[in-house]
Amino acid sequence: MLYSCLLFALTCWQPVSSNVPLRELAADRLRIGAAVEPAHLEEPEYAATLAREFNQVEPENAMKFVRVHPGPVTYNFGPADSLVAFAQSHRMAVRGHTLVWHQQLPSWLTGGRYSFVELSSILADHIYTVVKHFAGQVYAWDVVNEAFNDDGSLRSTLWSDAPGIGREGAGYIEQALRWAHAADPNALLFYNDFGAEPVNAKSDAIYRMARDFLSRGVPLDGIGLQMHLRGEPLPLDKIDENLTRLEGLGLQVQITELDVGLPVDAAGKAAPPDIARQAEIYADVVALCLKHPRCTAIQTWGFTDKYSWIPSWFPGNGSALEFDAQYQPKRAYEAMEKALRSSFHK
Ligand code: G3I
Repeated sequence: MLYSCLLFALTCWQPVSSNVPLRELAADRLRIGAAVEPAHLEEPEYAATLAREFNQVEPENAMKFVRVHPGPVTYNFGPADSLVAFAQSHRMAVRGHTLVWHQQLPSWLTGGRYSFVELSSILADHIYTVVKHFAGQVYAWDVVNEAFNDDGSLRSTLWSDAPGIGREGAGYIEQALRWAHAADPNALLFYNDFGAEPVNAKSDAIYRMARDFLSRGVPLDGIGLQMHLRGEPLPLDKIDENLTRLEGLGLQVQITELDVGLPVDAAGKAAPPDIARQAEIYADVVALCLKHPRCTAIQTWGFTDKYSWIPSWFPGNGSALEFDAQYQPKRAYEAMEKALRSSFHK
């Protein structure tokens, strides 16, 4: 008897799952999102898992400048359009990512030696064209991404001061928000960054900028907190404090790029204590978001370890997401499920 139980446990154990998808558990309270590469939608298990579990998608790369605006007068919306069509046929909202960033810029732009007047006109055209193209389909945009350094100073980029679009300080961020709002007055406009989850120098700078923008009627609806995490302890109190002060301004907060990278072996497997710690972190992030009424989405950066960005950027690390490379739910998934269930479905 003992032997057969043990054998069953070893051979037949599957992650405990209620079979109620995350998107249903979250009901109308918040969106459960994932970053997506449109090309993977042709893989049946990828598409089925995405459609079953999530009610929000964001292109991981397909709306970035280099992809949608590959030549000075050339726009390519094909891959992003296919993601929007997939989302619509599965009742999913689409977040747009990202209009103004210092990475993934085409060489015609970075090597163009443009003056600030020319750059301003290029960026205005980019924002108008892209936002208008997706108007009514993309409900929220990461208008500007990663504009601050860790010490709270503004990052020097093509758009800010090298040579910039001719606006002082955070003026280029304000201008981008105003252009995006003019292109689609119904879209929610976000500023998005990493490492600004807890109260720290970077989140202080973002908070001050947001407070200033709102006091002057600049169209800003929310702050995206990326949450690219490792297995280290989360400063939950400090993150809670940051969410509280952002909500105090009337802003939404969205968790936009959650993943928890772990050290892995050659087969991509993480150690059991790390997997347990990772599950706790996923549970803590979901619980924290649920505690804040204006935290309106939790989105992971991908959803299957098969296509996570982590192993190629941080060799020796991986296993960062809630589904493994065979689309099986991991303990991180169970933790999300449990946190959602304990909040809404006691
Ligand atoms: O598609 C090309 C392929 O044709 C080519 O053969 C290959 C050769 O390197 O590159 C492929 O493009 C890569 C692309 O990912 C798709 O895989 C780019 O080189 C690579 O730079 C790009 O990395 C992306 C990165 O942003 C760019 O900085 C990651 O996938 C993406 O996950 C990552 O996402 C960012 C968010 O936008 C902002 N927050 C941080 C987050 C993680 O870095």
